[in-house]
Amino acid sequence: MSTPGTLFAEGTKALVTGASRGIGAAVAIALAEHGCDVALNYRSSSARAEEVGERIRALGREALLLKADISDEAQVAAMYKELKTAWRSLDVAVLNSGVTADGHLAAMSATKWQEVIGTNLTGTFYTAREATKQMYASGGAIVLIASTSGIAGRAGQANYAASKGGVISLAKTLSYEVAPRGIRVNVVAPGFIDTDMVKKVPPAQMKKALQAIPMGRMGTPAEVAQAVAFMASPAASYITGKVLTVDGGMIPN
Ligand SMILES: NC(=O)c1ccc[n+]([C@@H]2O[C@H](COP(=O)([O-])OP(=O)(O)OC[C@H]3O[C@@H](n4cnc5c(N)ncnc54)[C@H](OP(=O)(O)O)[C@@H]3O)[C@@H](O)[C@H]2O)c1
Repeated sequence: MSTPGTLFAEGTKALVTGASRGIGAAVAIALAEHGCDVALNYRSSSARAEEVGERIRALGREALLLKADISDEAQVAAMYKELKTAWRSLDVAVLNSGVTADGHLAAMSATKWQEVIGTNLTGTFYTAREATKQMYASGGAIVLIASTSGIAGRAGQANYAASKGGVISLAKTLSYEVAPRGIRVNVVAPGFIDTDMVKKVPPAQMKKALQAIPMGRMGTPAEVAQAVAFMASPAASYITGKVLTVDGGMIPN
């Protein structure tokens, strides 16, 4: 039973990758506010992940910290094993970890290409595969974080846009495969959101980007988090294989 005003039944078990900061941290906190216990994956920001964990515990929920590089298959397998030992079930997985390494394609090194594809696409493959296996018997909900760049493309982001377009195709395909098992798979595609990631965008480019947003501003991690919480929750029980853009109206869809 969920308490009034929350989206999830008390004690729902959720995993969020890349939960140490930015969108992932906001998602983890929103899920906890809506009734979930949350496992927080991160790559290296231990202190920041611990801060997010403390905020979740202060809400009266459980928080579990899981350090793993999602681009490493063995580390992902070990992380899910630890999760299964701690909590026998997994109800929600928000696969959010991601990186950028922007530059025009003509001058892009193979290293920059592989770095972004390795984390954003292959890492999402590893984490989605393990989440699916853990949800096979009892069902669940998976939300993958893509980007408007993965739908509309964006100059200087060939590696990133290709990785996020791949994430969308992966999600749609997986949604068909696991629907009979009671697992829903959806995508949230943010536009420009105020996190460390966009701090890397040069000011002139940022100014131009903001002019292309009908709402005239960046989004906040909390605004993305509410959309993710909805897609992951029983309130979205008949929605699967879909992409929800959270972008202030930036792309036509
Ligand atoms: N911000 C935007 O405008 C925007 C727009 C569209 C889509 N997105 C997507 O939203 C997601 C979150 O972005 P953000 O802006 O919140 O980014 P962020 O502030 O840079 O945070 C990235 C998070 O991902 C984690 N991470 C990165 N590489 C990892 C790896 N190999 N293994 C495990 N964790 C890893 C980081 O962990 P550490 O702290 O330990 O490094 C951190 O928690 C990404 O998938 C991004 O592509 C963002």
